[in-house]
Amino acid sequence: MLYRKGAVEGEVPSFISNFTSSLKYDRKIAKATVKVVMAHIEHLCEINAINTNICHKILETLKELYGGILEKYPNGKFEDIHEYIEYYVINKLGEDVGGYVNLGKSRNDQVATAIRIVLKDEIINLLEGIIKLQHTLLNKAKEHVETLVPGYTHQQKAQITTLAHHFLAFYDALDRDYERIHGSLERIDASPLGSAAMVGNTIPGYDRAKVAKKLGFSKIVENTEDAIASRDFILEAIFNIAILINNISRFVEDLILWSMNELGYVVLPEHHVATSSIMPHKRNPVTLEVIRAKTAKVLGYATSAYALLKSLPYSYNLDLQELTPILWEIIDDCKEILAVLSDLLSKIRFNEERLLKSVLENITLCFSDLAEYITLKYNVPFRKVHRVLGEISKRKHITLHSISEYLREKLSIDIKERELEEILNPIHSLKRKSVTGSPNPKEVRALINKRIKSLLDKESKLSRLRSKS
Ligand code: ARG
Repeated sequence: MLYRKGAVEGEVPSFISNFTSSLKYDRKIAKATVKVVMAHIEHLCEINAINTNICHKILETLKELYGGILEKYPNGKFEDIHEYIEYYVINKLGEDVGGYVNLGKSRNDQVATAIRIVLKDEIINLLEGIIKLQHTLLNKAKEHVETLVPGYTHQQKAQITTLAHHFLAFYDALDRDYERIHGSLERIDASPLGSAAMVGNTIPGYDRAKVAKKLGFSKIVENTEDAIASRDFILEAIFNIAILINNISRFVEDLILWSMNELGYVVLPEHHVATSSIMPHKRNPVTLEVIRAKTAKVLGYATSAYALLKSLPYSYNLDLQELTPILWEIIDDCKEILAVLSDLLSKIRFNEERLLKSVLENITLCFSDLAEYITLKYNVPFRKVHRVLGEISKRKHITLHSISEYLREKLSIDIKERELEEILNPIHSLKRKSVTGSPNPKEVRALINKRIKSLLDKESKLSRLRSKS
C-alpha cells in the first residue's frame, strides 16, 4: 500500500499480494520489530537527527502499537509487518510527523534484527527444554542402575548392560546438542541495525553499537552488507536442531521397538498410547510415532533451508523471506518434541521381569567376557577362544557342563562349572567392567553424580541468561 507509489504504481491483485507478502508469518516477529523501530527512533532523537517533538509522537504511537499488535494483527494488503508499522504511524500522525519513521533504516536491517531478537529467546526456550529432558533422564537413570537389559548391536542381542547406562548414553548426546545450540547464541547475538539496505546510513552520529545495546545485543554484525545478507545463523540453528532431533529419534525408535508385544520391555504411559477404531486390543505408541515422523519433516525443512541459501546472490533477496517461517516451524516442533518426550519418560514403566528374562535366556551375552577371561587366565590367543565359543553359541542347548567339556576338548583347559557360572553371571559381569564409562553400577553411580552437578550448573547459568533476556 504505502510502497505502491513512486517507482511502482497501482493496486496489486490479492492473489499476487498474498503470494509475495510475509505478513502472515511476521506475527512471530511483530513485537520485536516494533521494538527495533523504537530503538532506532530513540537514537535518532538522541543524535538530534529528528526533531524531539516528532520523535516523542512517533515513540508514543509505537508504544501503543506494541501493546496491541498481536490482538489486532493486521490482515490488509501489506507486503509485511514492516510496511504495516510505518503505515500505522503515518496513518495516525500524518506524513509530516510519521513520515520520518523509516529514516536511516531499511526493512533489510530491520527484519534481520527482529529475527535475531526472537531467535535468541527461542534458543533459551530450547535449552530449557533440553535441561528438563535431561533431568528426567537422570531421575530414570538413578532408578535403574541395576536394571539389566540386553544391549544390541546390529539389532541383535549383544552384551549385558543396564537401563541407566543406556539413558546416560542418550543424556550425553543431549549434552553435546546443548553445547552446540548454546554455542550458536554468540553468533546470533549481534545486531544488524543501522546497516539499512546494505551500506548503512549517512546520518551523522548514528552509533550502531549504541542501538544494539538498547536492544539487548552484546555486539553488532560489523560489515553492513554481511549484516543484512547473512542467514547462516538461521541455517546453524536449523541444523543444530536437526541434529538434536536426530539424536532424539534414535532413542525414540528403541522405545517403539521395546514396546512391541514380542519384546514388551516398556509400558508406555496411558496418555501416550491410543487404541484402534477397529481392533479393541491395540495400544499404539502414538506420541513416539509422531516424534519419529516430525524428525523426517525437520530433515526436509533443513534441506529446503540449505537449498534456499545455496548460491543465493549477495546481498538481500526476497527469497530470504521464505526461510524465516521454516526456522519458526522447526523450533515449534522441537519444543513440542522435548516436552512430550520429557513427559513420557517421567511416567514410563519398565517390565523388569521381562528384561531380566531376556538377559538370562541368552547365556552367550557374556561370552565376550568369557573369552577375555580365558585368554588372560589360561594364556590362549583371543581369536582361538573366540572361534571355539562361537562354535558353542550355535548349539540349541548350552549348559555350563557342555561348555566346560567343549573347552577341555578344544582348548585343553580345565575350567570348572563353578568358575563358568561366576564369569557368566550377568551382574558379576557388569561389576568386572572396570573401564571408565562402562555400565558397572559403581561407575554409573559416579557418572550420575557428576552429571547432576554439571546439569545444575548449566541450569543456573541458563537462568542468569534468561533473566538478562
Ligand atoms: N518481508 C521481508 C522479509 O521477511 C522483509 C524485508 C523486505 N525487504 C525488501 N527489500 N523487500 O525478509
